[in-house]
Amino acid sequence: MKTTVATLLAAAGSAAAVTISEINGNKFISPYNGTQVTGVEGLVTAIEKSGIFLRSTEPDQDDRTSEGIYVFNKAIRDKVHVGDVITLDGKVDEYRSSALYSYLTEITSPINVVVKSSNHTVKPLILGVDTLSPPTSDFSSLDVGGIFGVPNDVNRISVVNPELEPTKYGLDFWESLVGQLVTLKDVVQVSRPNQYGDVWVRGGWKVTGINEHGGVTMLDGDSNPETLVIGSPLDGTSNPDDTKMGDTIGDVTGIIYNAFGFYRILPLTAISPIKSASADAPGASFKSEGNCRGITFANYNARNLGPESKTIPGITSQIVDKMLSPDLIFLQEVLDGSGETDDGVVSGEKTLQALAASIESASGVVYNYTEIAPIDKQDGGVPGGNIRQAYLYRPDIVELYQPNQGTAGDVNEVVDGPGLKYNPGRIDPANAAWTNSRKPLAAAWKAVKGSGKPFFTINVHQASKSGGSSSVHGDARPPINSAVDSRIEQAKITAAFIAQILEKDANAGVIIAGDFNEFTQVEPIQVFLEKSGMLDIEDIVGIPAEERYTYLFDMNSQALDHVFISPGLQKGAQYEHLHLNTWQNYDDQVSDHDPSVAKLNVCGCGSKKKRSLALN
Ligand SMILES: *[C@@H]1O[C@H](CO)[C@@H](O)[C@H](O)[C@H]1NC(C)=O
Ligand SMILES: *[C@@H]1O[C@H](CO)[C@@H](O)[C@H](O)[C@H]1NC(C)=O
Ligand SMILES: *[C@@H]1O[C@H](CO)[C@@H](O)[C@H](O)[C@H]1NC(C)=O
Repeated sequence: MKTTVATLLAAAGSAAAVTISEINGNKFISPYNGTQVTGVEGLVTAIEKSGIFLRSTEPDQDDRTSEGIYVFNKAIRDKVHVGDVITLDGKVDEYRSSALYSYLTEITSPINVVVKSSNHTVKPLILGVDTLSPPTSDFSSLDVGGIFGVPNDVNRISVVNPELEPTKYGLDFWESLVGQLVTLKDVVQVSRPNQYGDVWVRGGWKVTGINEHGGVTMLDGDSNPETLVIGSPLDGTSNPDDTKMGDTIGDVTGIIYNAFGFYRILPLTAISPIKSASADAPGASFKSEGNCRGITFANYNARNLGPESKTIPGITSQIVDKMLSPDLIFLQEVLDGSGETDDGVVSGEKTLQALAASIESASGVVYNYTEIAPIDKQDGGVPGGNIRQAYLYRPDIVELYQPNQGTAGDVNEVVDGPGLKYNPGRIDPANAAWTNSRKPLAAAWKAVKGSGKPFFTINVHQASKSGGSSSVHGDARPPINSAVDSRIEQAKITAAFIAQILEKDANAGVIIAGDFNEFTQVEPIQVFLEKSGMLDIEDIVGIPAEERYTYLFDMNSQALDHVFISPGLQKGAQYEHLHLNTWQNYDDQVSDHDPSVAKLNVCGCGSKKKRSLALN
């Protein structure tokens, strides 16, 4: 009799029971979202501060449906232990803390929690061995035109809710494992941690784009979906915050999760490096010739550099000891003389003098500078700072060619010669494309010892991606690339200006450098190259694709900073990225960008030859 009742009850229970894989389904959003489920059975794999994780005891054979799930409830933590097999009823929910993030499927308000048995072995799945390996190039089937396709945000994962293809797309892969306890083998850091100790890593599965320092570089069509961020440890400990790209961690066991805009692993306990990467990046391998046959250049976003900046000694030593005192330095993010104080001061002379004085006292090398003070509060950047581009130059080696100082509002023009109407002068400064952004600073120079032929420089700092971009793991596909339309317009204006110089003299020496705030493969840079006739100096000198980076963001070693040169400057060109900041831990970096250095022959011999041919 008793047995019959029990059997009947069991039968009734199992008829209504739902498995974890059924709850997760084979898409991003649960087919059970918003509904009550009963008889969900799972092994407790981990307990964290606001809930527990379960692994199904009845897995299906479908790689798309995760066998793990999060149960969000504080009280349940006291009722169960890791190793228990339990059943519960609850409500299925899709949770995210911002509209730009993708959702986490979870069970909330659990009731009827029954511990069926205890002390089961809890064995993590080894990623890439017991599971599929993550795809290495694409993030989502919804990324029309790739992850940097323009226009952005044409699809939302949560709206289209595509069927998961975990062998093809990174987000689908990680979604298919959310809630699961896994081990990542042979983990290496590809970033430095953020202020919470979260750090991006790769593991012992197939990874593409690995650079010599151990990071992963963003390549054309490959922004490294096979990497994962390590989030806060489940046991309440903290990950270290002073580690670096290239540090080796070893094995990491934790739960695959989704929060704050990224799939992530929550480690059981704090990670710690077993081997530290070097932070001592090599300096430039070449020096100036001191004449037009070999002028050296540097390009550096010196991050909000003001006269009182604590980074001045660090930047000085980078310029002197690592860049070897280049003849002409393209600087970005030079603050006005009152730094970040919003007091109407716009001139950056005090800042440039402070840096020049620091270099002179460290090395005896004398620098002069040139800039155009912007109109107060019109060029974006840190409040009160009036960031602008400026040139620092060695007056014993180079000088402005027929100087004619422009003001913020003066519109520079290419005149016959070719030459510049204003030297230095800003390009089309009133154009709406530059709203709240930096106007390009064009200048003409000649070597003190040389042919007397001018060469041209344009120092740019295009509109920023920050404030409005969505994450590479976010809901919007392709992800929102903030201000990409402004950068396309900016690129067209600058390109047209350069094209005018090259129209007057196809062999003119033109160098454009700066913080373009965009990657080479993305439309603003592609448009620029197409319309300007300029060449990527990285291609000319043959820097391997994996070593092309000046910045670290999320998982990617990436290049926001570029140097492009005119065809007349190709011969004998040298160029190197100096990883003086990307290799450092958070506290030891003096800027968030790496500088790059170039050496170019600006004698203009090619065009002289042309002239003598014409004379013959
Ligand atoms: C999940 O279901 C709830 C309740 O029905 C609904 O309000 C919410 O929009 C759904 N979430 C998604 C991502 O579809
Ligand atoms: C689980 O094992 C521990 C010791 O390994 C034991 O003390 C405990 O009683 C066991 N619990 C159950 C429910 O079997
Ligand atoms: C520095 O540059 C300014 C113009 O920007 C010029 O007036 C001055 O003579 C230069 N100083 C030296 C030492 O070349």
